[in-house]
Amino acid sequence: MKVLFTASEMYPLIKTGGLADVAYSLPRALAQAGADVKIVLPAYHELLKKVESFRIIGWLQIEGVSQAHKARIIEVQDSGYDVPIWLVDIPQLFCRPGNPYSSPEGYDWPDNAERYASFSRAVAALAIDAAGTGWAADVVHSNDWQTGLVPAFLSQEKRALTKIFTIHNLAYGGHYSHEEFNQLKLPWEWWSHEAMEFYNGFSMLKAGIVFSDHVTTVSPTYAREICTPEYGYGFEGLLRSRQHKLTGILNGIDTDDWDPSSDPHIPVHYSAGQKDVVASKRKNRQALLKALGANSRQQRNAAPVLGFIGRLVEQKGIDLLLHAIPRLLKETNARFVVLGSGQSDYEQRLAALAEQSPDRVYLHIGYSEALAHLVEAGADLFLMPSRFEPCGLNQMYSLRYGTPPVVHQTGGLADTVSHATEQTILEGSGNGFVFEDQHPDALVNAIVEALALRSRQKLWKQLVNNAMQEENDWSGSARQYLELYKQYQP
Ligand code: ADP
Ligand code: GLC
Repeated sequence: MKVLFTASEMYPLIKTGGLADVAYSLPRALAQAGADVKIVLPAYHELLKKVESFRIIGWLQIEGVSQAHKARIIEVQDSGYDVPIWLVDIPQLFCRPGNPYSSPEGYDWPDNAERYASFSRAVAALAIDAAGTGWAADVVHSNDWQTGLVPAFLSQEKRALTKIFTIHNLAYGGHYSHEEFNQLKLPWEWWSHEAMEFYNGFSMLKAGIVFSDHVTTVSPTYAREICTPEYGYGFEGLLRSRQHKLTGILNGIDTDDWDPSSDPHIPVHYSAGQKDVVASKRKNRQALLKALGANSRQQRNAAPVLGFIGRLVEQKGIDLLLHAIPRLLKETNARFVVLGSGQSDYEQRLAALAEQSPDRVYLHIGYSEALAHLVEAGADLFLMPSRFEPCGLNQMYSLRYGTPPVVHQTGGLADTVSHATEQTILEGSGNGFVFEDQHPDALVNAIVEALALRSRQKLWKQLVNNAMQEENDWSGSARQYLELYKQYQP
């Protein structure tokens, strides 16, 4: 089965969030399960800089706004990747500094509609081998709004192929205006509620939902949540009417990159079942604190460290964290390590907390893969109070690193973390701490409960072991995707 997998980012070439991790791991898992997979991405400036070498495999003429674009199709030649990577190279649209979606100053590129519509046109053309590469797809799997138009363009083709669309985050709908719809020269009949029109504008995410054969999202709980007004961002009615073609398939994690027994970013390796896991983690905690500038007394201090890694945006429950930290500083001996970047008001409020309690709140604003690994290994608890979380990867990394996560009961967090009590720990199911209410008190209570359990050493060891035993690799999910692809084969 020939699968063309497309997304707007892929680790480690270009990444802003978990989509990039999925775009790296899932195609590899599909290939390992026997599929003939190719990944196609835009040839961003940042990405091209990281590629060893490449060869040109074809050219396409792509409709644009004020002009047609000549797209060079490139195949990456890099021994580091086992799945072939194709790039759509349109320098006018993708050769710019900054992240995929915004300028270095943080503003969305004003031509994002054209950038991703053109990219999606190119992907659809590659799927039917309009570039003459000698390879045509049976299945096209697109992800999030940036590639939402791919199934729409494919619906215009005579050749029937399977169109799968995955929603990673409904909060980003790819919403554009009627004017932009016209500029993109999309077929007039697509301006309709049955197609992609959405509250006086249009949505590329809606196009993905409507024109694909099947829609998946990244956890079973999120698949249910998005059919409700609370989580649906206005798409709930549409999704309810498409429930027959909506499935939640939980993401996996890359168990090679995230492996505490061999992780090059951590000084002391350890693995599940080993006697001295807690002691190894303590040494990693010291290294983590050292990396964040703590003095040697602070490094040796036995007080627990609570870690957070993520985009500093409302989704991640940063406001809950900002309310909880001052209370926990007063009422417990907990310390905090926060790694992230995002909204400047959140960054500033976290910086103020770190300034007030420099020996208890450690903050690193920015993006650092290496530090992320060290946080997972060195923290005693991992905090994920997300208001919503389609899947979430960090809680799964935490489990694998024996760092029980404290999570809000939502989306993929609810599907991967089970609340620990003495009983569930002994039964082998308790692996973290789950709170229900989206309220700082609920987060504080869950943390206080976790800290109390941590003082019962034997029970805590068992909890850490339960967490590390969880199998969250990609193999099971890749099998589910392959089953789904097969269901729709003509
Ligand atoms: P989302 O995609 O909503 O941001 P996920 O939990 O699915 O959330 O994935 C986030 C990914 O990005 C994880 O791999 C996480 O480790 C990584 N990440 C987020 N922020 C940072 C950061 N500041 N430094 C390093 N890694 C980060
Ligand atoms: C999105 C979601 C996150 C999910 C990731 C990968 O960014 O916010 O929950 O893990 O996509 O699917």
